[in-house]
Amino acid sequence: MTEQALDPVRKEQFAERMLRVLNDSCLGYLCSLGHRTGLFDVMAGLPPSTSPQIAEATRLDERYVREWLGGMTVGGFIEYDPARGTYRLPPEHAASLVRAAGPGNLASFMQDLAMLGNVEDKVLDAFRRGGGVPYSAYPRFQELQAEETARVYDAALVDTIIPLVPGLPERLSEGVNALDIGTGQGHAVNLLARAFPASQFLGVDISDTGIAAAREEAELLGLDNARFVVSDSAELAGTYDLITAFDVIHDLARPERTLSAVAGALRDDGVFMMGDIAASSRLEENIGHPLGPTLYTFSVFYCMTVSLGEGGAGLGTVWGTQRALQMLGEAGFDDVEVREVEGDILNVYYVARKSRNSGR
Ligand SMILES: C[S@@+](CC[C@H](N)C(=O)[O-])C[C@H]1O[C@@H](n2cnc3c(N)ncnc32)[C@H](O)[C@@H]1O
Repeated sequence: MTEQALDPVRKEQFAERMLRVLNDSCLGYLCSLGHRTGLFDVMAGLPPSTSPQIAEATRLDERYVREWLGGMTVGGFIEYDPARGTYRLPPEHAASLVRAAGPGNLASFMQDLAMLGNVEDKVLDAFRRGGGVPYSAYPRFQELQAEETARVYDAALVDTIIPLVPGLPERLSEGVNALDIGTGQGHAVNLLARAFPASQFLGVDISDTGIAAAREEAELLGLDNARFVVSDSAELAGTYDLITAFDVIHDLARPERTLSAVAGALRDDGVFMMGDIAASSRLEENIGHPLGPTLYTFSVFYCMTVSLGEGGAGLGTVWGTQRALQMLGEAGFDDVEVREVEGDILNVYYVARKSRNSGR
């Protein structure tokens, strides 16, 4: 294409956009540090303060703090008063940046950028040779995943997500047998076990470190109705009244086999609750999705790629509702409702039941 054929305005606008992408991506890394160092949390409680005062309050090295404050100031996160040499984090910004914001804390997600960046060479290699990247290449994954989802579970699991299934809180209060597959660090199971002491909960995951952390938390909470086992969700033993899978199925090497195993392990009147990404299976319907680029990036750097790394299906993060419903149907779930939680733009919850004459 010759230079004359280009629309100069469009070309200029896109170049400007690329500069914004570069700057915003860099701010993502500074946000990750702001979260991990506690700078956002501490600054939210400080009056306008100098860099030495902020360094002292956070017990961090002043030179690093000052450079970080520079980036956050030119990035529009922090206000700077040059006459006094003070910095201030406006409360309206803190509302999206501090731990106390719970699910509203978006700075925490920025930690994933460095984790994904760590595997770029391996992902590049997979582009060229096929295959994927092993779970072991993501040493911080379990910790970060648990930090991100725990805030949602703490705020909504017992009071909002479980009641999406009519009558389920009552059944859990009476006492049922429940299984959570791909439980990670098991926080969802531990919360449910604490809220519903008459029910028995089992969490399974292939991650040793995830299961170890899950057991540790159950012990800390003194729970005797939560158990955790390292095991593959495609090979399920026992029968259950409730099976849950939160943000798991699209990562799996064998998602079809797992869904069939879930259907096989579920009692006739049981419920399978599958929390998964809110997206369409049609690319064109995801244009404008508020998290669209994030979802595809996570897919390329993690979700699709760990599945392909095990020689698996590589469904990808954005497998979408239509594909999910089709696969649930093929596994024997004839009755599926798709439910949403207000304010949660990331997930939908599939409430799936088998047909009444499935024989179990
Ligand atoms: C995105 S994480 C979700 C963890 C947790 N459910 C949560 O909401 O935080 C997906 C989990 O699936 C686990 N996983 C992947 N393949 C698995 C398999 N075949 N069997 C059991 N767990 C598996 C991973 O180890 C990881 O902990």
